[in-house]
Amino acid sequence: MKLWGGRFEKKTDGLVDDFHSSITFDKRLYHQDIAGSIAHATMLGEQGIIPKADADAIVAGLRAIEQDIDAGHVQFELDAEDIHMNVEKLLIERIGDAGKRLHTGRSRNDQVALDCRMYVKDASKEASGLMAELCHTLLTIAKANTATIMPGYTHLQRAQPITLAHHMMAYFQMFSRDMQRMKEVYAHADVMPLGSGALAGTTYPLNRERVAELLGFSAISMNSLDGVSDRDFVCDYLYAASACMMHLSRFCEELILWNTHEFRFVEMDDAFATGSSIMPQKKNPDVAELIRGKTGRVFGDLTGLLTTLKGLPLAYNKDMQEDKEALFDARDTLVKSLVVFNGMLSTCTFRSENMARGAEGGFTNATDAADYLVKKGMPFRDAHAVIGHLVLHCIKENKAILDLSLDELKTFSELFDEDVFEACSMHACVTLRDVPGGPAPNRVKDAIEAGEKWLDAFSI
Ligand code: ARG
Repeated sequence: MKLWGGRFEKKTDGLVDDFHSSITFDKRLYHQDIAGSIAHATMLGEQGIIPKADADAIVAGLRAIEQDIDAGHVQFELDAEDIHMNVEKLLIERIGDAGKRLHTGRSRNDQVALDCRMYVKDASKEASGLMAELCHTLLTIAKANTATIMPGYTHLQRAQPITLAHHMMAYFQMFSRDMQRMKEVYAHADVMPLGSGALAGTTYPLNRERVAELLGFSAISMNSLDGVSDRDFVCDYLYAASACMMHLSRFCEELILWNTHEFRFVEMDDAFATGSSIMPQKKNPDVAELIRGKTGRVFGDLTGLLTTLKGLPLAYNKDMQEDKEALFDARDTLVKSLVVFNGMLSTCTFRSENMARGAEGGFTNATDAADYLVKKGMPFRDAHAVIGHLVLHCIKENKAILDLSLDELKTFSELFDEDVFEACSMHACVTLRDVPGGPAPNRVKDAIEAGEKWLDAFSI
């Protein structure tokens, strides 16, 4: 008989068992479920709600079950629906009547909310740890490349020269925000809901704070209806995961471009690239493409859960069981993506000579040429027009600005002088962008140092 079978006269249709059971996926919550039950039983014993000896038997029984699941000795039953009832059923089979007292003052509704909160706490910590590893890789590449000049782009058109270090540190900023977001996810999940019961609390004198303390939660939930119906913390995780995937995806897009024969800014390691079954010459950036592709799944997980929740009346509804597959899928995708991306990035070879050539070839010093004239007294708008004409001339002649002689330059403005060649060199263009947050090597070194400090101090 089902644990809830008392008021039923018929067996559940097999179709229903198959349709509504969640054990096939929520079995991954067994650590959380057992830890939650151990804390609940301990508190019930301490409060005298159940006999102390029964509480002890429950705790010992649950520990043994956990070991057996760890060892792969437990066969879960579809008929027992979910992880909560599978564990409870096993406990009752093993220790008898004492096991029947475990669910006193508790509902699966607050139990599943607890398990999910514990899972999200672990998952947010895990994600921020992997993001930190990626940030270390970025710092390593940045440190070695504060003088590696490359073109910076807008509209995917060469715009102004920057350095590879500056580019990497932009991603450092993005992933450090993702870490911060995961820290906030942790804080939102860190609220203990047991005691909410099915929806309206319980008549037993539970010590909710004690359960929170035993499980390492920093607060208890403040409303029993909200305690069982809140899945904001899952959405928070899914959003934080989505933001990180979006960042990874943008980075992948750049690496895919940089890895093309047309750019040749980067060479992916053979161990992180794949071949073609027909074209012998191919070395494809499949890993980067797949991360870019998988980003869609994680966005889908977020959109799916928000849509599931939007029409739900208070309090618990079975629809909410749909939170778990989205959460697990997003967690698995994010973790795998972060790990493989870090492996790919840390083994990339950057082709600094091609980057430098790219920076020199695309009129990336045109703004600096205009600024040169401004410093000699010309209003910026006039300087912009002069350099515009100059660039047009160079395009027709197939030349760079600094390929022209001083005499040729003077035909565009009398203000040009011998010092223009130094002032508009790639080196000067980068070094003179000496504002906080700018690409000048000393500023990027400051950013690297600040990033290292921030990373060392970060903790959840
Ligand atoms: N498997 C269920 C879920 O994941 C557990 C809660 C079931 N509660 C209920 N009243 N049927 O949401």
